[in-house]
Amino acid sequence: MCGIVGAVAQRNIVPVLIEGLRRLEYRGYDSCGVAVLANGEPRRARSVARVADLDDQVRDTRLAGATGIAHTRWATHGAPVTDNAHPIFSRDTLAIVHNGIIENYETLGEVLRGKGYEFVSQTDTEVIAHLIHSLYRGDLFAAVREAVQQLHGAYAIAVLHKDQPHTVVGARQGSPLVVGLGDGENFLASDALALAGSTDRFIFLEEGDVCELKLDGVRIADRDGQPAQRDVRQVAAYGGAVELGPYRHFMQKEIFEQPRAISDTIPQADGFDPSLFGEAAPKVFGKIDSLLILACGTSYYSGLTAKYWLESIAKIPTQVEIASEYRYRDSVPNPNALVVVISQSGETADTLAALKHAQSLGHQHTLSVCNVGTSAMVRQTEFTFLTHAGREIGVASTKAFTTQLVALFVLALTLAKVRGHLSAAQESNYLKQLRHLPAALNSVLALEPQIIAWSEEFSRKENALFLGRGLHYPIALEGALKLKEISYIHAEAYPAGELKHGPLALVTEAMPVVTVAPNDALLEKLKSNIQEVRARGGQLYVFADSDTRIVNAEGLHVIRMPEHYGLLSPILHVVPLQLLAYHTACARGTDVDKPRNLAKSVTVE
Ligand code: M6R
Repeated sequence: MCGIVGAVAQRNIVPVLIEGLRRLEYRGYDSCGVAVLANGEPRRARSVARVADLDDQVRDTRLAGATGIAHTRWATHGAPVTDNAHPIFSRDTLAIVHNGIIENYETLGEVLRGKGYEFVSQTDTEVIAHLIHSLYRGDLFAAVREAVQQLHGAYAIAVLHKDQPHTVVGARQGSPLVVGLGDGENFLASDALALAGSTDRFIFLEEGDVCELKLDGVRIADRDGQPAQRDVRQVAAYGGAVELGPYRHFMQKEIFEQPRAISDTIPQADGFDPSLFGEAAPKVFGKIDSLLILACGTSYYSGLTAKYWLESIAKIPTQVEIASEYRYRDSVPNPNALVVVISQSGETADTLAALKHAQSLGHQHTLSVCNVGTSAMVRQTEFTFLTHAGREIGVASTKAFTTQLVALFVLALTLAKVRGHLSAAQESNYLKQLRHLPAALNSVLALEPQIIAWSEEFSRKENALFLGRGLHYPIALEGALKLKEISYIHAEAYPAGELKHGPLALVTEAMPVVTVAPNDALLEKLKSNIQEVRARGGQLYVFADSDTRIVNAEGLHVIRMPEHYGLLSPILHVVPLQLLAYHTACARGTDVDKPRNLAKSVTVE
């Protein structure tokens, strides 16, 4: 999604800004741009193509300057055309880049039009540019502070003004912004990753902060306009570009990285102790009486899977909600509940807002399950369990999902132990199963050639149904999401028992029905559902555990899963669904790692 980079230095900063945009590319965008102060005038280059095209433009036009801002845009207000690409100018004196959405842009726009400002884009951002311009009296920091008081919505901005060389002013509310500290130069970005190679010292700005970058330092004011001291954190974890290696796409690489990612996420300790989640967790976990899980997309499906584990192993009531729904409905808060937010990025606007909403309702205990240790979500929760998936580049989440499942399984076992539902023998047995998971996953990954054969047929379809039961219903949902987001085939998932209540009407020879069939307590029920599809001429594609006795027959295609894995089976069964989506998308020739209209990190509502 949108990305910001800014810098003040005593050298040409354009290459640093372009490199920063390159590092943010994987998040998804549809246009990009850069502006610098060149001989005291703001000059810019913008492109509706890739950052590489922008780079060509800046080289061709010799755009150079020591003070600059840059942006990747994911369109919200106004189409992805050059006029709407950032940086946006106000009267050729001020340039701004903006992530987020300004909700009162129409009202502000009318006032500014009344003052003679002319709008040349369809963006909400242009309102901020003119607003700051209208408030500028020789001090950009003061003008930005005054302007943000009038903004409603979520934003992170970076601004420069022709009369203030070596100055970039930033502000954030609801969207992340981080300051990077250099020697005689300073930086700003929406993600520390953008500044890798330039610095490893960061200040993560807090909600409402406004900052001013100069060559010799950075000053910050809090939401009340008071000078604020923020911790400087050393973050060495942001290495160079991630290599694709022998893989065709990052998604494929990330699917195959799952054994390693899972192994890194499984705690080293010999048991499930609440201290795995934070120092104060042993005290708090004993007191909580329920869980409220909030997440979006794939992370929501990991929460749905966890509900089965939490209620069956830990016997703790668990509610799972889509973050964007929870925040806008009236709910009954329970101060004794543990609110769990799940997110790969830790920056998803809907999940962050849901967390804030839960806290405002009086929920005091919060836990984040997250893949990014420096993210806003981790910083805003009482407890944390970090997944160690490593950087996930593909928009379609794969290793982030399976590592979330591991984290949530560990949470279920920890709560079971605290609540007296886990014997020492069970604990050591589950630990053994977890430790064996990476090896079991490798056997599942070895099914790839068989899945490629199926994907050829799938690539010619326009619809697909996914079925699962119990613990594997969320896995069917995840399989359908994977297929639709990267292959653009319309896919829906149902609990298999629901088939006869409606979706069976869709079943014809043209409709592939993908079924996850573990050898669990619901197997016989699932077999009946399979027969319901066969009787109507449907084509079934079943991933069946080897001991299920589901075999190939007319209209019934079976791939055998290597072994049944009990309660951890969802972690294995989702992998062939990831591979099926991946190879189907490849066969259809889509942009697998950057599917149309989607972004990796969804930082707007
Ligand atoms: O970073 P998050 O886990 O909070 O992201 C949530 C969703 O946007 C994300 O899982 C999305 O659904 C993926 N593209 C699915 O593959």
